[in-house]
Amino acid sequence: MCGIVGYIGTDHAKEKVIDGLRRLEYRGYDSAGIAIPDGRKIRIVKAVGELKNLEAKASDPTFDAPVAIGHTRWATHGKPTELNAHPHGNMDNSIAIVHNGIIENYQELREWLTVEYGVKFKSETDSEVIAHLIGLYYDGDLLSAVNKAVADMRGAYAVAAMAAREPDKIVAVRKDTPLVVGHGSGFNMIASDVPALLKYTRDVYFIENNETVVLTKDSVVIFDEKGNEVERDIQAVEWKADAADKADYDHFMLKEIHEQPRVIQDTLFNRLNPDDSIKLDDISMTKEDIDNFNKIYIIACGTAYHAGLVGKMVIEKMTKIPVEIDVASEFRYRETFIDDRTLFIAISQSGETLDTLAALRDAKERGARILSVVNAVGSSIARESHDVFYTLAGPEVAVASTKAYTTQLICMYLIGLYMGSTKGTVGREYYEFILNELKELPDKVGRILLSEEKYKKLAERYHFNDHVFFIGRGLDSGVSYEGSLKLKEISYIHSFAIAAGELKHGTIALMDADSLVIALATQDRLYEKMVSNIVEIQARGAHIIGVAKEGRTEIEKTSDEVIYIPNCADEVAPVLAVIPLQIFAYYVALERGCNIDKPKNLAKSVTVE
Ligand code: G6P
Repeated sequence: MCGIVGYIGTDHAKEKVIDGLRRLEYRGYDSAGIAIPDGRKIRIVKAVGELKNLEAKASDPTFDAPVAIGHTRWATHGKPTELNAHPHGNMDNSIAIVHNGIIENYQELREWLTVEYGVKFKSETDSEVIAHLIGLYYDGDLLSAVNKAVADMRGAYAVAAMAAREPDKIVAVRKDTPLVVGHGSGFNMIASDVPALLKYTRDVYFIENNETVVLTKDSVVIFDEKGNEVERDIQAVEWKADAADKADYDHFMLKEIHEQPRVIQDTLFNRLNPDDSIKLDDISMTKEDIDNFNKIYIIACGTAYHAGLVGKMVIEKMTKIPVEIDVASEFRYRETFIDDRTLFIAISQSGETLDTLAALRDAKERGARILSVVNAVGSSIARESHDVFYTLAGPEVAVASTKAYTTQLICMYLIGLYMGSTKGTVGREYYEFILNELKELPDKVGRILLSEEKYKKLAERYHFNDHVFFIGRGLDSGVSYEGSLKLKEISYIHSFAIAAGELKHGTIALMDADSLVIALATQDRLYEKMVSNIVEIQARGAHIIGVAKEGRTEIEKTSDEVIYIPNCADEVAPVLAVIPLQIFAYYVALERGCNIDKPKNLAKSVTVE
């Protein structure tokens, strides 16, 4: 979704804002722009397409100042044109704003501004009304004008605003859309997400809902909804400045795939005490709380939902508590049975996905205990939860999620083990067995990565297939969904995942010599049944790539190719089985010449319904 960056310091704000926007490219965008005060008005430069187009158009060295705001836009209201790109100005460009989110009552406001004040709109966007509202209320005090404008607005927004008459400040405000301030010596920054700041500072203030913030080069003042000044501690972000760089990899996705042994290790080992008991970071759940739960809902979107599919089976097995899983956009609008005996687990890489956040708020209001599994420190979902369990994956830049998924799986095991051992449903022996299996994962993932060349060759052979099916049983069915999503989102191949046992009830009708089926058979208990499913597909002439544990060679008789993963307990096999599928998807997309890190139509963080 859209990205906001603002900088106020002593010089060269343009370079810093464009650099910050580049760090937010992963959010997805189709146009970009920057605004810089220039005497009595604000100069705005915008360009459609990549940031380099904006850079070229804004290259005039006189177009610079110690303060600037910039934006990458992901079109919602109005096509991706230069006019629709942000920043937007009021009629005489004495005010400029950038906005992320949606103004729900923009049509009403647009009409009012047009009829009552003769405002002429330049774009089709909902955002432009914000600039005109601030312009209307402005009488030399930007903060007060922003507050008045906000009172007229309904919807979700993070807005940063500048006034030509007050070039020494940026005023920003947020509701349901992320905003973070970076604090430095002699400068301050505002952005939609932490990676935009990391090159300059790691000291941040997370802005809460309905708060307004005024930045000058030397100060950051935060106000609550009622206009009272808020005391907020600076948080130091541990991510390294180069964490959001591509290093020597061609794509962020490949880099992030290769980071998995390390981030799995971090996520796991940081949670283990010397005696192997589990310490969960911001979690205060007691035995009494755990004993009190009689149902669990896991709610998420996209890849995080797929981690939840595995989580459901693992947590049910370990806690003996029924676990329901749903995508947040469906969960929000159906009958659910939440009360104070419900544990609600939200999984989210960004911590900002609007549907997940809204579902969480609803569950919280109805008395559920909220535990979130989040990657982005200080994000909305993390802040609004009772307990937070961070995946220590570091910044994930590629739109297609890889390392966030595998670390989310690790969290699922740790939550299951923690709750199960506290409750008494996981015995000492099983606890130690699973923990040892988890500890071996970084090494085993590393071994799988050594076979990258093999998956690349498979991709070269099969990249032309227009229909690919992923099948599996039990935990493998959860991984099938994730393998299928990886392939379709970056290669645009039509892929479809289904529980293998369901094949006969319809999908097998599609199988013929043009089909490619990726059959996961890592679950010992279900191995023979999977092999029977594969035989049925083979009889229809489909090409089959099997995925099995080392030593389970029977599958070779029925598959065209077999990918072996190191031997492991069935429970933890998803962490290993997904790795070859991620690499396969990557190389298929590469063969097909796709934009791997930024696939068309997709955004990394979906902050609209
Ligand atoms: C978008 C991203 C996916 C992600 C999903 C949920 O669709 O492209 O990669 O899985 O949102 O995002 P979250 O940040 O809540 O995990």
